[in-house]
This record gives sequence, C-alpha cells and structure tokens, in this order.
Amino acid sequence: MQGVLDIPQELSVLEELIFDSLPRVETVFAGQLVSDLPPVDQMCSYIERYRGKMLRPTLALLCGVTANPEIDQLLDDKAFGQLITHSHIISGAVCEMVHMATLVHDDVLDEAEIRRRGQTINMLKGNEISVILGDYLIASAYELCSSLNSPVPSQIVGNASAVMCTGELLQLHNRENLSLDEATYIEILERKTAALIGAACELGALATLGFDQSIHPTTLALKGFGQYLGIAFQIQDDVLDLLGTEETVGKSVGKDLEKGKLTFPVIHHLEKTGVMDGTRSLMLLQKAASGDSSVFPEITEAIKSTGSVQATQELAESYVRQAKDALADLPASAGRSMLELIADAVIQRSY
Ligand code: IPE
Ligand code: IPE
Ligand code: MG
Ligand code: MG
Repeated sequence: MQGVLDIPQELSVLEELIFDSLPRVETVFAGQLVSDLPPVDQMCSYIERYRGKMLRPTLALLCGVTANPEIDQLLDDKAFGQLITHSHIISGAVCEMVHMATLVHDDVLDEAEIRRRGQTINMLKGNEISVILGDYLIASAYELCSSLNSPVPSQIVGNASAVMCTGELLQLHNRENLSLDEATYIEILERKTAALIGAACELGALATLGFDQSIHPTTLALKGFGQYLGIAFQIQDDVLDLLGTEETVGKSVGKDLEKGKLTFPVIHHLEKTGVMDGTRSLMLLQKAASGDSSVFPEITEAIKSTGSVQATQELAESYVRQAKDALADLPASAGRSMLELIADAVIQRSY
C-alpha cells in the first residue's frame, strides 16, 4: 500500500518496519515456488515479475504488530525482531499466494489482458497454463501454511479460500442477472474478497497472540476490521472497473460490464432510474454484456445522472467506518492508527 498512503511523521518507525519486512515476505513467497524443473521456474517468474500493492501481507504484519500489547514500547526500543517474527512473514506470504492464485484464475474467467501493468498470464501463456499455475500457487500456499506448526492457520486459510470460491460461484450464478439486489451483491463481496482480507488480519494477530487465541477479543477485533475493510476495498475496485482507465488502474477495466457482473453503482442506478430511462439502461447493459463496448460511455453517464457514484462512495465509507469501529476497544497505538489510515486509503485509491 506504499504510495497510496500518506504517513505522518509519528508513524514513520512503524512504516519503516512494515515496508522493510515486505521483502522478507517476497523471499519466502519466491522460495516456496522454486521448482527443480526449469520450465516451471520460468512460468513462476511471470508471477513474480509484477508486484501488486501487497495489501494482504501488509495487513498480516500490521495486525501482528498491533496485537502485541507492548507495541509502542517495542517500537521505541526498535525491538523489531519481537514485533515481526517468521510466523508473521509466513502468514503474509500465504495470504499473498492465495490472493495471487485467485488473480491468475480470475483473469482467465474475465479474459483480462492486463494485470499489474503487464500482460496477464492467460495472454502470455494461455488458459491451460494459467489454470494449472493458479492450482500450483494454491497448493504451495497450503504447503507453506502447514509449516506454521498448528492446524489453526491451515483451517483459517482453507476456510477463507473455500468461502472465496463460493463468492466467485455466486457471482457467476448471477451473471447477467439485471435484478441483482444490494444484499446479494454485498454477500458476494463478503465471500470473494473480505474473507481472505479478514483471514490475513486474523492470522497476523494469531501469530502474535498464539494460534490458540482465535476468540481473543483482539483477534476478533482485527479479523472484523479486515472483513469490513475487504468489503470497502472491493466496492472501490468495482468503481475503478467502471470509471478508471487501464493506464491508472494498471489492469483491464470495464470487465464487470463486459461479463454481465452487476456492481453497486449499476444496482443503485437501476433502482433509482424511472421506467423509461430504466428500460434504456437495461438495454445498454445487455449490449455491454454481449460484447458491445461502444455503449460504455452512455452507461457511465446514466449511472452518474442518478447520483449512483456518490451513493457508492457513501456505501464504501460506511464500511470503512464499520472497520474502524471494530478497532474501538483496542488500546490506542501506532498500529491502530496505521490501520485506520489504511482503512481511509482503500477507498481513496485510484489503483
Ligand atoms: C485485486 O486485488 C482483486 C480484488 C480483490 C479487488 P488487489 O487490488 O489487492 O490486487 P494487487 O495485489 O494490488 O494487484
Ligand atoms: C475478483 O474480483 C477477485 C477476487 C476477489 C477473487 P475482480 O474480478 O473485481 O478482481 P479484478 O478487478 O479482476 O482484480
Ligand atoms: Mg477480474
Ligand atoms: Mg474488479
């Protein structure tokens, strides 16, 4: 999330700790994917070539630090090794690997051309390799997770991945469903995005508190924070898919309209528009989903005309508020302040 965040001076030590630890996550990530087969190594190098925002590892590390009751003292003492242990690094790498697997598979489903400012694996190598490479990533993530010496992280990651698949399946089931409602849309987001982000926060907290501390109030607070944040994050992603450009967002945009996936701006628009305009909007959405991208500008104009972009921002803000509220009972600390900053940043971001 570096570059997206504007960090005040008083958090600079924590910022440095987190951002200096991310390369360790990348090293563990790359090490886990090493293969004795040169062609497999070469394919994995496509995955490692592009780095994303590293949101999930950042949250795993930061929640780990925040869960430490001695956080501010340890930061003052620069006792960084006590704040971020190898378990935190592994937790971050596991979550990033599961995330990456979903992106590789998702780009096949979306027939996306661009990801992280480069060509997608499906464009470079085709769908067959992308499917198996995604499987390789997810299998490697579980193997890495099992090195955490407790069944709990594997249960958490297994559950989050399964829930994520059900979210993608629910979304696919609702393709071209022009009467998709808000409640189902939010359920899709809770499953496909928020479950893994919540798991990243939970794992980070458990790596500090002990893997038997699943119902510790701090664990529950940080997990809840991640789940609300995940919903806000995906709402913003959906706005960027609709209104962003490939150049700024760094990935193919307009895919949700093209694939007939209704997101909140569209759902809100259809709810607010009158019968005549509504009929036209439905026709435009059908055209977009059948491959006619020339209707995109008219759709976005129609969405803006019903105040639906503003309403989407307000919805995202309400989830950011709930994310911050989940932290309310945690003591004030640099970690909590940084989490609150990240919460604001996920809906202000343009990529
Ligand atoms: C993209 O996630 C997929 C969603 C859940 C919206 P990110 O926006 O975190 O992707 P990277 O890792 O930064 O590329
Ligand atoms: C799917 O969401 C990513 C998952 C959470 C599995 P999107 O389709 O919106 O992700 P992007 O926009 O391609 O990154
Ligand atoms: Mg996609
Ligand atoms: Mg998207």
